[in-house]
Amino acid sequence: MKTDTDIGDTRPAEGVERGPRHVAIIMDGNGRWAQARGRPRLFGHHAGARRVREVVECCPSLGIRYLTIFAFSTENWKRTQVEVAGLMSLFRRYISKEMKALAAQNVRVRFIGDRVRLDKKLIALMDALERETEGNEGTQLTIALNYGGRDEVARATKRLARDVADGKLDPADVDEETLPKYLDTCVLPDPDLVVRTSGEARISNFLLWQSAYSEYEFIDTLWPDFTAEELAALCRSFGARDRRFGAVKT
Ligand code: FPP
Repeated sequence: MKTDTDIGDTRPAEGVERGPRHVAIIMDGNGRWAQARGRPRLFGHHAGARRVREVVECCPSLGIRYLTIFAFSTENWKRTQVEVAGLMSLFRRYISKEMKALAAQNVRVRFIGDRVRLDKKLIALMDALERETEGNEGTQLTIALNYGGRDEVARATKRLARDVADGKLDPADVDEETLPKYLDTCVLPDPDLVVRTSGEARISNFLLWQSAYSEYEFIDTLWPDFTAEELAALCRSFGARDRRFGAVKT
């Protein structure tokens, strides 16, 4: 299994050495952005997808090696059938359309979340994109699709319990290093910075285990208005933070 240290480095640009290596984003506000323009919510999601492209492209220059984006949560199925179907179709389109560009930009794409509820066509495209980009050592893009932090921990626990039942794992050896090996994110480092757009200050079941010591930024910008410049500013302000991970300065 590949681990962080095996994955080739991307070069941090001048002045961003103290910036976050792993940024995770809750891309919120597409619906309000569309409604403010008198358009249907899906119009906002399409605009949001264009922002994904811009943000992925600016990662190398900001020294961001890992980008994780929350595209669809386990709770988002509660939306109208029209919106859910529109989002699924947008994901299929995004993957088909962006596959070449992502591969050419040396981006490696992974998906996290539970695939069981997704349609076969979408799963096939996700597999193809992962396969197509698996040798890439540039930006490591993770797309959370039908993802929920609690669901992820429950699925991980199920796998861990199975290993115990099969005699592969001794319960006495289970510690806080054990569970992450069973999470969808097992090959990724924890996020340094979690950003949520649109003025909401909650984490909505995103990377619950992994963000224990992440820095958070809740910003008012709606996702379709988010820019590379804004991300650069967030990275600079991250660099000025004093991260102690529970320790005190001596
Ligand atoms: C939350 O905004 C956004 C989502 C549930 C979907 C996120 C999806 C995209 C940005 C589309 C593209 C993604 C990829 C990977 C191609 P919201 O609709 O809840 O906004 P609201 O709070 O204003 O209603």
